[in-house]
Amino acid sequence: MKIENCVAVVSGGASGLGAAVVKDMTKSGAKAAILDFDAENGEKLAAELGDKVIFCKTDVTDAASVKAAIDRTMEAFGAIHFAVNCAGVASPKKVIDKKGNPMPADFFNRVIQINLVGTMNVLSLAAVEMCKNTPTEDGEKGAVINVASVAAFEGQVGQAAYSASKAGIVGMALPVAREFADYGIRVNTIAPGIFMTPMMAGLPEKAQQSLAAMMPFPKRLGKPEEFAMLVRHLIENPMINAEVIRLDAALRMAAK
Ligand SMILES: NC(=O)c1ccc[n+]([C@@H]2O[C@H](COP(=O)([O-])OP(=O)(O)OC[C@H]3O[C@@H](n4cnc5c(N)ncnc54)[C@H](O)[C@@H]3O)[C@@H](O)[C@H]2O)c1
Repeated sequence: MKIENCVAVVSGGASGLGAAVVKDMTKSGAKAAILDFDAENGEKLAAELGDKVIFCKTDVTDAASVKAAIDRTMEAFGAIHFAVNCAGVASPKKVIDKKGNPMPADFFNRVIQINLVGTMNVLSLAAVEMCKNTPTEDGEKGAVINVASVAAFEGQVGQAAYSASKAGIVGMALPVAREFADYGIRVNTIAPGIFMTPMMAGLPEKAQQSLAAMMPFPKRLGKPEEFAMLVRHLIENPMINAEVIRLDAALRMAAK
């Protein structure tokens, strides 16, 4: 689909990969709604980008909160064409801690709620609006991009909850794409390796260098703009559907 004059909702758009997508969308002539619970960064980015961007304080785990954000986007821009699901948390925790205590069920549930249920909340509510769009010549009405992780395939020790949530996103990729084929909405998933976002920038210089050394080529962390570049391509290329694409410089995570 052409991006110009379309509208994207970007969950997690206040920071990191999502913020890069919001900036890229506006550069390509689209409007964007940032759905994020970080009001400080979200408002700041929206103000920086002008009247093409709105910020909607949203908790993706809460369907009513997502619905309110989708309604506000419809009021502001009149349509939704793309949903990019970047909201997520990477909280590590072992299944059994050093003192022999099991992982609290609440912890596991919280990660699944944000990363997996949050993705379904945003994609389902946004797709209801996409169905109302006039189709392009190719019959397209919209595109959904979900964000998994290489941890969906080779999760490390401490990533049981995170990997389970991201593997859930990979698991729903095909059935959702098959279902939405009837509506002219494509569904693709990006599984990033390691990208330099605020989460990673917070690590000590030494840890950043050791992560970069693990990357086969290029030997560095990914840039958020490179993630946004793939989002743009997935929207623009009508033949890519139901794909899960690793964006990882050939990285295969070790056990620890
Ligand atoms: N950065 C990486 O190396 C990397 C690698 C693989 C996958 N990912 C995935 O990419 C996505 C974006 O990661 P990032 O590095 O940009 O992280 P980030 O922490 O910079 O951004 C995540 C955003 O999600 C928002 N968020 C968290 N919980 C939310 C909720 N309940 N409701 C609404 N917003 C919420 C945060 O406020 C934040 O703005 C995540 O799903 C992450 O798991 C990132």
